[in-house]
Amino acid sequence: MTVFGVDAVTDAAAAGGTLAVRRGDLVTPLARDLAAELGVDIVASGSPPAAVKGRPVGVGSATAAGPPSPISPPSPALYRRGSPLPSRLLPRSLARTDLAALSSTPPTRVPRIVVVGAGHVGTITAMRLAEADLADEIVLVDIVGGLAEGIALDIGHSAGLLGFSTTLRGEHSVEAAGEAAYTVLTAGRARQPGMSRGDLADTNAAILGPVARSVGATSPNGVILVVTNPLDEMTHHVWKSSGLPSGRVVGMAGMLDAARFSSLAGLTGVARAGQIEGYALGSHGDEMVIPRSQLAANGKALTAQLDPGAIDALITRTRDSGAEIVALLGTGSAFITPGLSAAQMVIRMIRSDDRVVSATVMPAGEYGIDGTYVGLPVRLGRSGLREIVHFELTGAERAAVVAAASRIAERVRSLPVPGP
Ligand code: NAI
Ligand code: 2OP
Repeated sequence: MTVFGVDAVTDAAAAGGTLAVRRGDLVTPLARDLAAELGVDIVASGSPPAAVKGRPVGVGSATAAGPPSPISPPSPALYRRGSPLPSRLLPRSLARTDLAALSSTPPTRVPRIVVVGAGHVGTITAMRLAEADLADEIVLVDIVGGLAEGIALDIGHSAGLLGFSTTLRGEHSVEAAGEAAYTVLTAGRARQPGMSRGDLADTNAAILGPVARSVGATSPNGVILVVTNPLDEMTHHVWKSSGLPSGRVVGMAGMLDAARFSSLAGLTGVARAGQIEGYALGSHGDEMVIPRSQLAANGKALTAQLDPGAIDALITRTRDSGAEIVALLGTGSAFITPGLSAAQMVIRMIRSDDRVVSATVMPAGEYGIDGTYVGLPVRLGRSGLREIVHFELTGAERAAVVAAASRIAERVRSLPVPGP
C-alpha cells in the first residue's frame, strides 16, 4: 500500500493534474482536500479521470472493476506536520494566497544566506533555513572562535537525515562570509532576568553598527532581517548604519508575538492555534498592539467567541511572554520560536508569498506614521518589504500604533549616532 500525501498532489498538479493510485492505496484527507483545491484528478489505475476533482474514481466507489473498497479513512494521524492546510482549514484571509503560492510559484533558490550570531537564535534560524532548502549555502558568523564553524558543521550533519542540499559554513566576519541575498542579524546580548529589552540598547547598538556597515558594503543588493533587541530601535540603527534603502531592512518581532498569541489562544480550546489569526503591531515591548478588531478564529471574529476578559488576558500574557521565558530559563531568552519566526520571514521573502504578516518596517505615511520603524501588517517580497497592508483599525487601535511609533522614535534619538 502506498500513502499519498500533499506532496504527491502538489507534484501531480505540476505534472498535469492527475494523481494515479492503485486499489488499496491510501490518499490522506489533506491530500484529497488539496487535490480538490488544485483541480487534481485522483485516478485509480485503469479508470477514467474523475468527474469530481479530488475524489478518487474506481477506488472507494463502486466500479466495473469490483465492489467499493475504501482507501482513505479520514484519520487525523495522517495529517503530516508542516504540510499546507486546505483552504477550509486556513484562516479566511490566508487560504487563497497560500494555495496560490503553493500551486503557481515554484520555490526559488538563492545563492547565500548569512546569519550573524551563532548563538541560540542564530542556530535555530540557520537550522530552519537549511531545512527549507532554499539556499545553496548558509553561512553562520560569530566572533567566538569555533562557534560558528561548530554549529554549521552540526546543522550540516542533519542533511543526512533530512536530505536538504544547502551546505553550511562558519566564519568570523561578514566579509569572509561573502555577498548574501539575505542577512539575518542575531548578534548581540540577550536579556537576563531583571533586564528589559531596552537595557540592551547601547551594548547591542555598539555591536550592530559595525556589523551593519559591513553587511551594507558586502551585500549592497541584499536584504537585512534584524532580530537583535531592542528590536525596533536596532532595526532603525541597522538601517542607518548599513546605508541600505529602508525597504531592504526589516525587523522580526511581530511574527513571533502573533505566533505567541495564536498558540496561547489555541490553549483556550476556541480553535487550533493554526486557525487563529492575529497581528502584533507597534513595538516589541510595552507598546505592543494586538488589535482586537483583527482577531479571528476559524474565520470568525474572536471577540464573538471569547469574552473580553479572556482576550485581555491573552494579550497581556503575549506581551509578557518574553519576560516569562527569561525568568524560567534564568540564563537567556527565548530562541526556538524566535529562530523559527526569523527563518519563516526569510522564506516568505524568497517565495514572495502573499500572506500578511506583522513585521517591523519603515512606513512612509501609512497609518499616519513617517520616518520611524514600527510593527505593521505587511507583505514581504524578494527585496524585503513589498507593501504595508491597510487594516481597518478602530480609532483607539490606530492611536496606539501611532503612540508606539513615537515612543520608538524617542528611544532611537537617544541611541549613539551611527558612524560614517
Ligand atoms: P546568544 O547570546 O545566544 O547569541 C548571540 C551571539 O552573538 C553570541 O554567540 C555572540 O558571540 C554573537 N556575537 C556578539 N557580537 C558579535 C559580532 N560582532 N559578530 C558576530 N557575532 C557576535 O543570544 P540569543 O539568545 O541568540 O539572542 C540574540 C539576540 O536576539 C538578543 O539580542 C536577543 O535579545 C534577541 N532576540 C530577539 C527576539 C525578537 O523577537 N526580535 C526574540 C529573541 C531574541
Ligand atoms: C522575546 O520576546 C527576548 O525579545 C525576546 O522572547
